[in-house]
Amino acid sequence: MEQRLNMQTFKRKNDMNKKIRVAILFGGRSGEHDVSLMSARSVLSVLAPARYEVTCIGITREGEWVTGAHVLEAMEKGETRDLDRVILSGNPKQAELYVLRPTKMGAKFETLTPVDVFFPVLHGPFGEDGTIQGLLELADVAYVGAGVVGSSVGMDKGVFKDVMRANNIPIVESVLVLRSEIEKDMNAVIEKVEQMGAYPFFTKPANLGSSVGVSKCSSRSDLGEGIMEAARFDRRVIVEQGAVNAREVEVSVLGNDLPEASVCGEVLPSREFYSYESKYIDGTSGLLIPSQLPKDVTDQVRDYAVRAYKAIDCAGMARADFFVEKDTNRIFLNELNTIPGFTSISMYPKLWEASGLPYAKLVDRLIELALERKSERDHTEKMYRSES
Ligand SMILES: Nc1ncnc2c1ncn2[C@@H]1O[C@H](COP(=O)(O)OP(=O)(O)O)[C@@H](O)[C@H]1O
Ligand SMILES: [Mg+2]
Repeated sequence: MEQRLNMQTFKRKNDMNKKIRVAILFGGRSGEHDVSLMSARSVLSVLAPARYEVTCIGITREGEWVTGAHVLEAMEKGETRDLDRVILSGNPKQAELYVLRPTKMGAKFETLTPVDVFFPVLHGPFGEDGTIQGLLELADVAYVGAGVVGSSVGMDKGVFKDVMRANNIPIVESVLVLRSEIEKDMNAVIEKVEQMGAYPFFTKPANLGSSVGVSKCSSRSDLGEGIMEAARFDRRVIVEQGAVNAREVEVSVLGNDLPEASVCGEVLPSREFYSYESKYIDGTSGLLIPSQLPKDVTDQVRDYAVRAYKAIDCAGMARADFFVEKDTNRIFLNELNTIPGFTSISMYPKLWEASGLPYAKLVDRLIELALERKSERDHTEKMYRSES
């Protein structure tokens, strides 16, 4: 109800007949560039023209911002040379999008369009990690999803785990090692890991996604290789105790201050674990929705998901991924993804659909939540002026 009121206030303020101007950002500099294009296509297909005026902004693999009539198609084909270059200024007084037009003298900026709300449909580094959220904050614009802290803590597997420990949310044992420690004395690192428990361990770069650089290590030599592999992608490496014989259970969370959890789903990986190949190459990993777990277990999972969401100050949405041991139903939270896969057949929207919220309504709701959060920010004093 409160959220509906906010939406109405927004509409009144901005003329009831006016459409909401949405800019979708997709592509990006991460390994999940292609997934992002697929997610964006799904989002675009449900943004009702009667309600929204949509601008599409592609971000190339090199980080260039581009737009044009068929920007998504062009990005899908990798043909972005002829597209217009776009700039979003971090200056709140110039928070429109600008197009760079070549002139005889060089180039000039032309205003593209004002935007009410940005929708970053970007996964992984430079999209889901707080960096683009930082630019959107500087520009003082509304945007879908978590803010800077929620995004960056959700992305960083090291800091995330410490925050979960501080909030008594169960996670597997882990150690964080620096690349410099690895280079200095790999044996000492391996000893430190082995003190944590028994094989298998999982090695991961602290800040990445899509299972890139993740290895399952069943022996000391695997462990050395896994650590080296993860250290290629980050200067900080996480080594975790493997959850053995565990289900991968996921739950979708939606909301700002009062987030709600969907029904639970289970991933059925096509390989030994949910690796990059299993996620994107085989195409045969299955989703079981809803998961077939006892109610007390799913209630507990949903409760942990909401608590974790609040603990990192998430907003809009996140998908919480868990391990649930098959023999004991013991639960461990693995991670929160603040911009989860968002095609109409992805787990995040599918779980909402199974909970009674269809895809198009979910997109509407995320936009409402973004506007609500912006109006909350607008009511926050930003400058302290001493009265004495
Ligand atoms: N501690 C663990 N125990 C068991 N399986 C794990 C563990 N950590 C990761 N995995 C497997 O590796 C996959 C990718 O790891 P994850 O931490 O989710 O990285 P990403 O952020 O790249 O998705 C998981 O979905 C799971 O299949
Ligand atoms: Mg994962």
